[in-house]
This record gives sequence, C-alpha cells and structure tokens, in this order.
Amino acid sequence: MQQAAVNILTANDRGGFTIPTSRLYPYQWNWDSAFAALGFARFDRLRAWTEIEMLFAAQWNNGMVPHIIFRSNDPDYFPGPDVWQSGTEPASSGHSQPPVATSVVRWLLENNAPEDREHAEHLFPKMLAYHRWFHNHRDPDNTGLVATIHPWESGRDNCPDWDSGLNGMDVDPDLGDYVRRDTSHVDASERPNQFQYDRFLTIIKVGRECQWNSQELYRKGPFLMVDPGIQFILLRADRDLLAMAREFGRPETELQEISAWIEKSSAASEKLWNEQARAYCALDLRSGHMSDAMTSASMLALYAKAGSDEHRNQLMERAGEILQEVKYAFPSWDPTHPKFEAKRYWRGPVWAIMNYMIARGLEEHNNLPMAQRVREDTEKLISQAGYFEYFDPLTGEGCGGDDFTWTAAVQLAIESNAKESN
Ligand code: DGY
Repeated sequence: MQQAAVNILTANDRGGFTIPTSRLYPYQWNWDSAFAALGFARFDRLRAWTEIEMLFAAQWNNGMVPHIIFRSNDPDYFPGPDVWQSGTEPASSGHSQPPVATSVVRWLLENNAPEDREHAEHLFPKMLAYHRWFHNHRDPDNTGLVATIHPWESGRDNCPDWDSGLNGMDVDPDLGDYVRRDTSHVDASERPNQFQYDRFLTIIKVGRECQWNSQELYRKGPFLMVDPGIQFILLRADRDLLAMAREFGRPETELQEISAWIEKSSAASEKLWNEQARAYCALDLRSGHMSDAMTSASMLALYAKAGSDEHRNQLMERAGEILQEVKYAFPSWDPTHPKFEAKRYWRGPVWAIMNYMIARGLEEHNNLPMAQRVREDTEKLISQAGYFEYFDPLTGEGCGGDDFTWTAAVQLAIESNAKESN
C-alpha cells in the first residue's frame, strides 16, 4: 500500500472527518468526504464509515446534505459560515454537491461483511431522504432533469459549462467588498476568476436572503442549469440505492419510488445530448442555451448508464479523439475548444476522482483499453507530480492544493481494484 497516501489521509483527519487539504479547504466537503471514505476503507474500515456518518450527521431536515460543513470558523477560508448563514447545527453551506456518497456506501459492501452491512442499513433512510431531496427540490416539475442552483453545487466550479448561466446573471450591486482567500493559497492563474467569484457570491447572497428556500431558488434564483455531472452521479447513486434497497428488504413503495427516478432520469438525460459536440452537455434552464463541448462530466453517462446505447457509443468514440490531443486522461474540458486552459481548475485539468468514475464506467461498457489508459494515467500523474488537487493534461504538472485527500484516496482505491482483478 502507498504509505504516502495513507499519511495524507491521516494528516487531513480532523477527528472523524477529513478536510480536502489544509488552508485552502479547511472544513468537511461533501463529495471529498465520500472519496476520503473510499481511501480509508483500504486500511481502516471503521474510520471509512465514520467519515460518511459524520457527513450525514449534517443533513438538513429537508434531506439535503450540504456541500461544506463548518465545525469551526477558520479565517483562512472565505466564504465562511457567517456568509452562508444556514441557521443549522452544525453550520453549513446552503446547497449540496454531487451525491457520490451513496455509491461509495455500496462499494464498501464489497466484502459482504456483516459489520459493513449494519452501517449501510443504518444509513439507508438518510440516503433515501437525500435522493428524495434532489429529485423533489431540484426537479420540482418532475422532468427527470435535476437542476443545480450554483456552480459550486456541481463541484466543477469554473467549468465553461457554467459560462452561459453566469453571463446571464447580474452581480448584486450591494454585494460589497470582500477578500478572496483562495488566491493567497494557490496561484490565481489556477483558480476561478473575479468575474466568476462575484457571481458565485451573488448567488449566495440571494440564497441567504430567501433562507435557502429551494422552491424560490428554482423558480426565481439567478442561476439554474442542469449539470451532466450531478445528473449522472445521482442516476448512478439511484441505481446503487435501489440495489441496496432490494438487498435490505426495504418496502415495495420505496423500490417503486427509486425505480421511477431511474427510469425518468435515464430517459431525460437524452435532452443533454449535443449532436455537434457528440457528448452530453450542460443545459441552461434560464436561457435554453446548451454548452458546446465534451467534459469529464459528459463521460459519466457511462458510469450512470444514462441515455441511449447509441449515444454512449458515440461518446466513447469522441473520447478516443480527445485522448489523442492530451498526454494524460481525462481533461475536464475539450482541449481543441478555444476555452480550454490546461491549468485553470475545471477549464482543462485532469481530476483523479473524475478519472476513477470514468474508468469504472468504461469498464462496465467493456471498453477495457480506455479504462486502463485512464487508470494508468492517473497513477502516472500522481507518481510523477505528487498528490495534487488536479493536473495539467498536457504536461502532467500538479496544480492547485497539495497533499490532497481525494487524490490520495483514489490512488489507494485504484491500487486495491488492480489487486482484486489480478
Ligand atoms: C472553493 O472554495 O473554491 C470551493 O470549491 C467551493 O466549494
């Protein structure tokens, strides 16, 4: 086992939950934690469960699991709890993040161990409530497309996918002055720009002023887009939830409810297909505009088994072309598109967690050579550059935060999957 990866998880442990990296992200983040659990599971099973249980301990009464949980107030991070004003205990941000946690819970059942099953069964009602929140509060008209109200909810903060929604909104004239902290920890050229930040904070101000009322944000909020990442991660998680519901003998009504979500979301995902990009893309529900390039999130259609066989095959073909343009898989934005920036956060760089999910999806579609390329590139990037937050797909350089929890966790997970298949 990679001791360096184990050391990172241990060093980022804050007593039952793990921070993504010190200073830049000093709290518990939703999908970071889910991946942290996947890493801990390789050497400390109980600690893996505690990570997920602490995440769900912050679940809101309406079922939402927030994207950041503030168990302290750290001046190194902005915007902190006083800006979000969630009014919850513990304090948190006001929206969610991709719900990968349910899939991780299912993966943790891999050994059929009764102790694992006990934890998963206990978590089941909370996971179900979380999925219900996504389907009811982010898709109140039951269209099968789950919306996102903030680019931070997608986890892919500054991806060009969000340019349409951000360009279409105004900055609140009363936003006031604020001091970004992220650019004092990481080179500004690797982070979102000021135009985006002003809009990120405007959405938070609107959310705070309506006390994070999801109906109001869906109907009238400044930003409403469909993220293929959330759509597909949720669909995959719904499938995992259904498998666990069957396994745990949950009531028939629950099985039917989850099955209906799956059917509806899978079919509705076709509305995200962009013929010209030959990929599933983001959709701006305010303007109707669709984003015009393939991203690493588009690739998660495979992991979710979303949409049609034909489009998923076309997606793999397009992915093959994209991979010829880069040294390392999988870029977060099409490298042939004018908006590609190799080092700027989600506008080009490779992210190990996306690679992990992409490789699983490719494998499940029997595309073993591409799955292997994605996994091997991930391992190479980490062994050459270190445990960075993300990587330049052209040079392999590590960017953003260092000693990063989910990068370490993915390395441990890949290593253990490789052992299992030998
Ligand atoms: C940040 O602070 O940049 C985070 O990505 C928000 O989740």
